[in-house]
Amino acid sequence: MIVAAILGYGTVGSGVAEVLETNRESIAANVGEAIEVKYIVDVRDFPEDARRGLIVKDFSVVEADPEVRVVVETIGGLGVAQEFTRRALEAGKSVVTSNKELVAKKGTELLAIAREKGVNYLFEASVGGGIPIIRPLTQCLAANRIDEIYGILNGTTNYILTEMFRKGVPMESALQRAQELGYAERDPSADILGVDACRKICILSDLCFGCWVDPDRVRARGIRDIAPEDVALAEQWGCSIKLLGRALRREGGIYAYVEPHLVSRDHLLSEVSGVMNAVAVRGNAIGEAIFYGAGAGKLPTASAVCADVMDVAKADGTRREMGWSPAREGWLGDIRRLPSRWFVRCGQVPAWAEESVSGAAGSAFVTPAMSEEELEARLGDLAVSACYRILD
Ligand code: HSE
Repeated sequence: MIVAAILGYGTVGSGVAEVLETNRESIAANVGEAIEVKYIVDVRDFPEDARRGLIVKDFSVVEADPEVRVVVETIGGLGVAQEFTRRALEAGKSVVTSNKELVAKKGTELLAIAREKGVNYLFEASVGGGIPIIRPLTQCLAANRIDEIYGILNGTTNYILTEMFRKGVPMESALQRAQELGYAERDPSADILGVDACRKICILSDLCFGCWVDPDRVRARGIRDIAPEDVALAEQWGCSIKLLGRALRREGGIYAYVEPHLVSRDHLLSEVSGVMNAVAVRGNAIGEAIFYGAGAGKLPTASAVCADVMDVAKADGTRREMGWSPAREGWLGDIRRLPSRWFVRCGQVPAWAEESVSGAAGSAFVTPAMSEEELEARLGDLAVSACYRILD
């Protein structure tokens, strides 16, 4: 029997307990032995909960119990999540997490402790909710040189955009529903402002390109400024507007950022709606591969966490080699220099525009490929209402 402890009994933590119980037999058959949750660590009381007998308030109980082989951290954030993860790894226990903030900010150090202690620190659920992406990148696609990875990495904002622009629901109501459905972060501004997607693209960039990217140095633009006129004109031109995280290898280095983009209706990502996420990977052998699935929510996220728990259970003392080097000066290119074509909503269409579109929502034009610096210089005094990169 493999003994586990869950830290944090919120949406994801309770989902993990539920999946381990519901699929107990098939999981045991796959692993070769049963997985038993011995403790759930949470500071709150759950007097009505069927698992109340497992709740402990003191993490030291888990830390000191030699029976516990795997610790599931679903507390979220830095703070105690970071402290308990470090202590669990130092106590020789593997840790599995859905905590993208912790992996993005402190993963380098935590993976180093795991390596030193001969245990695993696994985080499949930190990106794309239930979509398998970390394991495909580190295993199935490992023979490639990855040149680019991009995608819809936040379920809450994709859900809100779908509700707002396909169903006419106001942003606040759509956000409230996303919170009720368990998609949003505790502080949903992390979703809306692109901060959550930024943490995820940094983790993907770390894994694909092999060097840590600090999320605080990556520019993130969220969905707050997307106007109905932008969406109407983009659609008239044959595109959806999607919030994308993107990391790519170019001559000037690695570029990483989060921004709303125009995505052509011919591209699979334009059809990804609601809470679904999709991640596209470009490798020099595979070409392009796209991973699609539920990007947030209790059970989809728990699905990924439980798979990692099973992986630890089957690892039998071996380690999954995974990681990246510490930050390197000059690794990240200046995003303002990355060329793109741009979609500009503006009352005037300049002579140098490649194409333009106009209708009830006003007018917009498409620029040739140029950097943001060049774009700003070219736009000069034009009265620009909005400006988006076009995904090419
Ligand atoms: N708030 C996140 C999202 C949860 O909406 O994608 C999953 O990481």
